[in-house]
Amino acid sequence: MTRDVSKPLLFETAWEVANKVGGIYTVLRTKAPVTVHEYGDRYTMIGPLNMRTAPVEVEQLEPTEPALRDTLNEMRNAGVNFLYGRWLIEGAPKVLLFDIGSVSNRLNEWKADIWSVAGIPSPPDDRETNDAVLLGFLVAWFLEEMTRREKNTAIIAHFHEWLAGVGLVLARKRALDVCTIFTTHATLLGRYLCAGSVDFYNNLRNFDVDHEAGKRGIYHRYCLERAATHCADVFTTVSHITAYEAEHLLKRKPDGVLPNGLNVVKFSAVHEFQNLHALAKEKINDFVRGHFYGHYDFDLDNTLYFFTAGRYEYSNKGIDMYLESLARLNHHLKESGSKTTVVAFVITPAATHSFSVETLKGHAVIKQLHETVAEIQAKIGKRLFEQAARGIEPSGADLLSEEEKVLLKRRVFALKRSTLPPIVTHNMSDDSKDPVLGQLRRLQMFNHPSDRVKVVFHPEFLNANNPVLSVDYEEFVRGCHLGVFPSYYEPWGYTPAECTVMGVPSVTTNLSGFGCFMEDNIEKPQDYGIYIVDRRLKSADESISQLASQMFDFCRKTRRQRINQRNRTERLSDLLDWKRMGLEYVKARQLALRRAFPDSFHDDLDDAENEALRKVPRPLSVPGSPHVRGTDDPLAYQMGELDLGPRTDDEDEDDRVSISLKSGDVLGSRDEDDEE
Ligand code: UDP
Ligand code: G6P
Ligand code: GLC
Repeated sequence: MTRDVSKPLLFETAWEVANKVGGIYTVLRTKAPVTVHEYGDRYTMIGPLNMRTAPVEVEQLEPTEPALRDTLNEMRNAGVNFLYGRWLIEGAPKVLLFDIGSVSNRLNEWKADIWSVAGIPSPPDDRETNDAVLLGFLVAWFLEEMTRREKNTAIIAHFHEWLAGVGLVLARKRALDVCTIFTTHATLLGRYLCAGSVDFYNNLRNFDVDHEAGKRGIYHRYCLERAATHCADVFTTVSHITAYEAEHLLKRKPDGVLPNGLNVVKFSAVHEFQNLHALAKEKINDFVRGHFYGHYDFDLDNTLYFFTAGRYEYSNKGIDMYLESLARLNHHLKESGSKTTVVAFVITPAATHSFSVETLKGHAVIKQLHETVAEIQAKIGKRLFEQAARGIEPSGADLLSEEEKVLLKRRVFALKRSTLPPIVTHNMSDDSKDPVLGQLRRLQMFNHPSDRVKVVFHPEFLNANNPVLSVDYEEFVRGCHLGVFPSYYEPWGYTPAECTVMGVPSVTTNLSGFGCFMEDNIEKPQDYGIYIVDRRLKSADESISQLASQMFDFCRKTRRQRINQRNRTERLSDLLDWKRMGLEYVKARQLALRRAFPDSFHDDLDDAENEALRKVPRPLSVPGSPHVRGTDDPLAYQMGELDLGPRTDDEDEDDRVSISLKSGDVLGSRDEDDEE
């Protein structure tokens, strides 16, 4: 069928629309401004309605566009509950959140359906699969109704990750007149295999995928993921390393790589982010004074804050390697007689029974001390003023009254403690089996006064209402000196990317999408504060040593060197801006339109003329190109490997996905002193 491809509608479906779980939420939220810029009201994100978060994230609206309004009315009349509105983030995209609970009575019918149309089984007790089925059928229903009502305009349906894949499979099976894109942000099997003790990357080509999925009880999920992969007009993923993995585990070579960007906010003055670091660090200092009370014998001016953060995937996220390397760092610092102290945080959510008494007590005693000192300070000020006003020269000896001395002494006594500062801030639900605690105990990292590396495990994501560490995640990152993310399985890895745009140096690995991207594009990433641990060619022990020595070298930097390095790190942010990265999404949509609606493109026109039929809008002010060597094309470092030819089923040997791809582009290094 011919549809007008010049102004298509775009529906992007994902489980994490206005529903924070992990990095996919970050993709959608940060990409919104550029997509809204391109599509305006023709863009809608679709996801599940989370009653806990949606009311604060989304402002309800009445749909006005006729096809959308009528479709939603019809679904509402059939008993579907939803929230349509504006997601209250930059770009204010329209979102349609389906309440999957409102159709749970149809679950069994739909599960039977997906079995009969696609041969995909779904066992009774897998909550996630059930949710995926409910959301998928609602999305397919919605798209079907939309295509019935909107007959002239092309519709692009973009789906992220297997949890949103059912809608895509149904769209294909029902031959809906839409073009589809599937973007996977990981593979299920990859995540599971890596979390076990499997030599994943060396065996990628050899896994018996059905058998491995069956062994792990995820065969039905795997079927869904694989079906979505193969039903899509265009299949993409977020990095070359995951493209390679997908080719072998999902058996389809991705059509292209869509690396993740961020919505980069530039300050008018460069030093502004440095000031923010100092302000945020002061808040972390407050926490540290309280947490280490009684053992607070180290100089905060010579203390560095390291952290790792993310979902609690112990070995996939490399938390094991981080702790092991910290133990070695501790040893190196002690041996070298260093006066530097490192406070190393682990921020990852686990099951807990709230804060521990010890943690709360630390903050209470420090707060009391703060208040007492403030009161005494005010009284001293008053007395000084009185004396001076009466012409008496203050001697200093009588600055503190006897009463105040006693009060201060009591506060100081309250700071004494017979235990070491705790290594964890909360009471864990399963203390004895927790992997982080287990490893810290094995490594004997107990925050002893002689330790140069202290550890704090905060088993909860951060937020500013936290009574103990009252900062949100972004502020915390800004206040730290180094983010450490030595992941083993990481299709992209937003956490180091976020550090980069905030001008905070970080450690990543050459097994993470982000790490490979940086390695491909920057000649000496470590000069820019991007440390890449080699987890490909080195043994685990060698990688741990490499990480320990990177951290040790970092500890030996002077303050001036750290400030300079932060300036250089921040300069990389243009590389990660959606204003650039978003162009890969534009290409993927273009390819999907061409494959699904070939008749809407004219073969007698050349590419430029066809392009004009479906014009990519002028970009939001594209950031200045970094200095590029070896090519005149500032965008050439991007993956840009989308093959714009028609879709063929027999793919040739041309390996479009290569994990060692080098683009040849280099960010010009500036070695001048970056002082502000
Ligand atoms: N994150 C957060 N609070 C925290 C730690 C992490 O909001 O305390 C966010 C972080 O900003 C990032 C996301 O969680 O955007 C994790 O994404 P990533 O791609 O690193 O990993 P994923 O969880 O998707 O595997
Ligand atoms: C920023 C601030 C400086 C401060 C420095 C501390 O650059 O602008 O005023 O001295 O941070 O850096 P450090 O690495 O020691 O936390
Ligand atoms: C996935 C991956 C993560 C990636 C994110 C966004 O959850 O685990 O590495 O950054 O998706 O693409």
